[in-house]
Amino acid sequence: MTDVTTLGEFIIEKQRDFPGSSGEFSRLLSAIRLASKIVSQQVNKAGLLNHILGSVGTENIQGEQQQKLDVYANDQFIKALTKRKVVCGIASEENDDYISINQEGKYIIAMDPLDGSSNIDVNVSIGTIFSIYKRISPEGSPVTMEDFLQKGTEQLAAGYIIYGSSTMLVYTTGNGVNGFTYDPGMGVFVLSHPDMKIPKDGTIYSINEGNFYKSSKGVQEFIKYAQKIDPDTKRPYTGRYIGSLVADFHRNLIKGGLYMYPNTTSSPNGKLRLLYECNPLAYVIEQAGGEASTGRERIMEIQPTSLHQRVPYYVGSTNMVKKLEEFIQSEE
Ligand code: AHG
Ligand code: MN
Ligand code: MN
Repeated sequence: MTDVTTLGEFIIEKQRDFPGSSGEFSRLLSAIRLASKIVSQQVNKAGLLNHILGSVGTENIQGEQQQKLDVYANDQFIKALTKRKVVCGIASEENDDYISINQEGKYIIAMDPLDGSSNIDVNVSIGTIFSIYKRISPEGSPVTMEDFLQKGTEQLAAGYIIYGSSTMLVYTTGNGVNGFTYDPGMGVFVLSHPDMKIPKDGTIYSINEGNFYKSSKGVQEFIKYAQKIDPDTKRPYTGRYIGSLVADFHRNLIKGGLYMYPNTTSSPNGKLRLLYECNPLAYVIEQAGGEASTGRERIMEIQPTSLHQRVPYYVGSTNMVKKLEEFIQSEE
């Protein structure tokens, strides 16, 4: 194991990419690393622990049942991020408003502490998504809403943790994407997937097809296109949908594919949240050579207007995103 690179080493090595940061940014990433180890441990034994499975009987601002593990993961990440004193504010799926913490901190974080909640109780992969920005408001003052409503193009770093058959942490700071696999024996994340790239032409499409008739004409036409038999273009594509964005995204990043969560008649802006689901994964996919779009515009160029804003989301292999955009933009 002596020739491996651990995440801790990697973070220190990369600190020189952030000359102005004098180590604060590294401390932030190591807070995320610590919290993800703690959450990973609980996820692994969730089936044994009554206090971790099931719902808490409360709803978040989006009217969704909060699962015990949602709340647990949220607490762990907030605690770890607060302790390092470099983060001044946190926006989370599980908190109605942003949380203002260390006023001296330079950075803000938007996060989905536990993604794929409906899969917690059935032993299927779930994840955490995070997005890091530099604050706009002056250091030493309380964080403001404006700090959180920055375009995705302003992200300093973003990534996710997938709690799957193994736990992995995948992130970018704008110089490509690197993936680290957790070795529970050693208690460290090891660089296992350096410089990840998504194939330009994927053959997997991932969508909740139960929403077919609620989707727009363009999306329906794309699904039919994906299912047509045409060996020259490797169709029909393979349908794969886990229902945990992180897990679907991670598979498609490695194998090549397109994840879709369209606007529907019942969710006119789609389901996924711009700040802590769509933007961070858009940054990762672009850094891996793919694209993320609403079907009409680049995700990272949207000017956010609220913390829990939703957008239609199509993310993955460049040529698949482009094909889908053709269908959507030719809708009458
Ligand atoms: P969360 O568990 O953080 O609320 O996110 C759930 C999201 C996403 O992970 C997943 O891809 C999508 O919801 C699944 O939605 P459907 O059940 O409507 O397909
Ligand atoms: Mn989510
Ligand atoms: Mn969540």
